[in-house]
Amino acid sequence: MLALNNVAKRYGDAATGTLAVQDLTFEIGRNEVVTIVGPSGCGKTTVLKLMAGLIDPTSGSITIDDVAVTRPPKEIALVFQDYINSLYPWMTVGQNVEFPLKREVRDRAQRKERMMAAIESVGLLGFEDRYPWQLSGGMQQRVAIARGLAYQPRMLLMDEPFGALDAQTRAELEDLVLRVRDAFDITIVFVTHDIDESVYLADRVLVMGPRPTFIEADLPVELPAPRDQIETKELPEFARVRSDVYRRIRRSSELMRTGSIRTVIR
Ligand SMILES: Nc1ncnc2c1ncn2[C@@H]1O[C@H](COP(=O)(O)OP(=O)(O)OP(=O)(O)O)[C@@H](O)[C@H]1O
Ligand SMILES: [Mg+2]
Repeated sequence: MLALNNVAKRYGDAATGTLAVQDLTFEIGRNEVVTIVGPSGCGKTTVLKLMAGLIDPTSGSITIDDVAVTRPPKEIALVFQDYINSLYPWMTVGQNVEFPLKREVRDRAQRKERMMAAIESVGLLGFEDRYPWQLSGGMQQRVAIARGLAYQPRMLLMDEPFGALDAQTRAELEDLVLRVRDAFDITIVFVTHDIDESVYLADRVLVMGPRPTFIEADLPVELPAPRDQIETKELPEFARVRSDVYRRIRRSSELMRTGSIRTVIR
């Protein structure tokens, strides 16, 4: 569905700028959950922004169903970690979810219907008239997800969406993500720092190398569905992939700190 071909991204000019991403090539298939992990500052957010058409690659191309992404495509919705700043505090939950639809869905009743369906799918029915600041962090992040879903995207890009939440809330929202994928038949790309989370959610884990980032490993996760927070994490396959991801990230982080050259890893 989504393909990156030899994508590079440099911030600033060739002499003084930062080469964040270098020669990225990978594909993401329909209905997949792909998680992205890698050391801090390696370029994960840059990769998501490139996919979302928010920034242009310096070279290479990004396509959705073989059509080049040139500006933010309609079929993609984004959810970021910073839910506090991503919701409008002066709007109710319902208004926040409905707002991005205003241009696309002219009919008010239809818009309201979509808004309510999205709010229901994240388990917040009854909270439409509350304000974001009246909700817990986990609930606010549910609102941000609902807003993405109301848009009826084919793809949801999530950048460390649960980083600021407690473990229990985080687990609930992880399961929500998997349910949403099944219910709406969408593709999810999920950046996280949490290795357990990266394995639990994924059909594939992409491990990014140190900057300029590249795909250090593309690891399939052969865990049965539906996933379960306790049982799935007890499986040997979970432990195996988790250790694999962990070792690779540790190595990349060390390389990033010591500034060793990329060929050392190979
Ligand atoms: N707008 C920008 N202008 C200049 N440099 C940038 C910009 N955005 C990111 N960078 C640089 O590009 C590199 C990659 O940044 P990016 O935010 O993609 O990393 P990340 O993997 O998401 O990090 P983290 O794990 O901390 O979120 C960093 O060196 C960063 O300083
Ligand atoms: Mg980031």
